[in-house]
Amino acid sequence: MSMDVNKMDVTKFKCSNKLVDFSEKLEIYGEWPDDLSGHVFIVAPFHRRKDRHLFAGEGVIIRWDLQSQDGHIKVHSKKLKTWDSFWYSILSPLGKLIPKAFFPARLSIVGVAEIANTAVVNMNGRLILTADAGRYWEVNPETLETITPIGYFDEHIVSIPLSFFPLVANTAHPFYDPHTKELLTCELKSKPRQENLFTDMLSAVYITSWDGKGTLKHWELDGTVLDGSPHTAIVTKELVMIPDMPFQMGVSMILGLKIPPRKAYPKTQIYVVRRKDLETAQENKDDTVPSRLVTFEGDSYHFLCNYHHIDGKINFVAVQQATLSLTEAIQPDDVKHFSGESYKKKYYGIPWMFAFDPGVLRKVTIKDAELISEEAFIHPGWYSTMLYTADPRELWDEKGYSAIYQVYAGYHRDLICRRQYLSFRDSKSRILTQHELFQDWKLPQQDLPSVVAKVPLDEDWEKLTKDILKEKAENPDTPLSELGKEQEALDFYVCPQEYILDSIQFIPQDKGYLFTTVLSSEGSEVWLFAADCLKRGPIAKLRLSTKVDLGFTLHSEYFENISARESNYNVNRLLSAVRSLTKVPYEFLFNRRDDIVNRKVN
Ligand SMILES: [Fe+2]
Repeated sequence: MSMDVNKMDVTKFKCSNKLVDFSEKLEIYGEWPDDLSGHVFIVAPFHRRKDRHLFAGEGVIIRWDLQSQDGHIKVHSKKLKTWDSFWYSILSPLGKLIPKAFFPARLSIVGVAEIANTAVVNMNGRLILTADAGRYWEVNPETLETITPIGYFDEHIVSIPLSFFPLVANTAHPFYDPHTKELLTCELKSKPRQENLFTDMLSAVYITSWDGKGTLKHWELDGTVLDGSPHTAIVTKELVMIPDMPFQMGVSMILGLKIPPRKAYPKTQIYVVRRKDLETAQENKDDTVPSRLVTFEGDSYHFLCNYHHIDGKINFVAVQQATLSLTEAIQPDDVKHFSGESYKKKYYGIPWMFAFDPGVLRKVTIKDAELISEEAFIHPGWYSTMLYTADPRELWDEKGYSAIYQVYAGYHRDLICRRQYLSFRDSKSRILTQHELFQDWKLPQQDLPSVVAKVPLDEDWEKLTKDILKEKAENPDTPLSELGKEQEALDFYVCPQEYILDSIQFIPQDKGYLFTTVLSSEGSEVWLFAADCLKRGPIAKLRLSTKVDLGFTLHSEYFENISARESNYNVNRLLSAVRSLTKVPYEFLFNRRDDIVNRKVN
């Protein structure tokens, strides 16, 4: 097959203006189970024509009602309303004075945009939207109306104090623990790296807890400094773990200056804190807690972690991918690495999220902040790990998770620009240059398709990797992505080349279903898979009308029921902005930690 056949239309990556406030009844193609119920919420970044990064706009919240009616499924969507759109509309002319950053956190003279466009949290029936930069926002799950930001700015640890809207650098993946009824997350306080003032940042790191009604509580990790940012707070019954990932945010990057940040540490570092120590610190009115450091191989960005410890050990899967950076995007002066051609305008702003290296799932066991074992699953034809899911019923099971369902977006040569290639060709985490089993491998000459795979956790992943390589040696004509069909342990589906699997959500009913959004040249689709037989392919499909493009959708969440909101938590937006002008710079500059940690908020 020639590589120019069946190319993905990249204009479909962008969520269209028409997406806001729509409601549609979609015809079902295939076998949608009659008894399916509940709701899937997915968030997508809204894309304005002038935005310079695909993930720059406010979140659009999309709800799918899973109960079919007369052969149809209902979908609703609404855009989040932070201050961002308002300032964007009145400040556009002034915005021209600020260098154009190809970075999701858009800056203006009033501060940093609050986008809450990355993930969704089900907080005991309350719907919370999150991102890695900016406060979380609560949305009404029934009407999809924006209700309130979480916390006044001066209740947060402010990362950079910028006028009305300071930067709150946190994580898109907080954890809601229904046993303690708290949302656990982390927040960073930035400081420029002394030896590298403008190109790089370090951060003091705080664990933050919110009970859904009162003020935010913070504990600083004593003597702990992050090089990068966390993206995830990993929580178990006994621990909160804060990863330090190579998504770096130098001042220069935020301001749009073209100075590359310092190279990140090439392995995964996680700071481990005992939840008991948080309680003790609170009782003693202490504002710091000790952390311990665990290090293991690879660049990780998502984690599937058991809640319960087994024999004192904690098991998790780290989703890893070398050779990509979500804070960078294709720019006007970039060229395609493999052909040397320049990019058409429609490519500008697409992040470097497509890899030129196989994706890695790494099973990690730690005990008492010590690495006990690590085991990598690497499929030679599955590139660009993206979103994942697992059965949410297993999170609370003493035995833990049984499998991870991982989406690989594929290998798309046109989407790898020269700058991306040069930045990562020698990455220490690269499989094709660094791993003993793959060292003499060359990059494929053709694109590779998107795949969804169920990888069971009780298998030996090193052996599974070797068995697939053996299968390859014995079947040299099998297409690279199709390898693994001989492995009983694996269940997977390889998409036709013109489709890219995107968001994925496990529906915890019966044996389970996977709800996935799919990008195609024709527009957005939903594919439903039976979780126990992915190789059957989608059992049902939904097609959005041609009027609507969901664009690149991100994380999702399942709600069994939605009901009227009982909480009356509300943060006054105007007061919030005024207080950020007065209290925030004072607290930031003078570092009165008492003010931040033990503050009383009306
Ligand atoms: Fe994420």
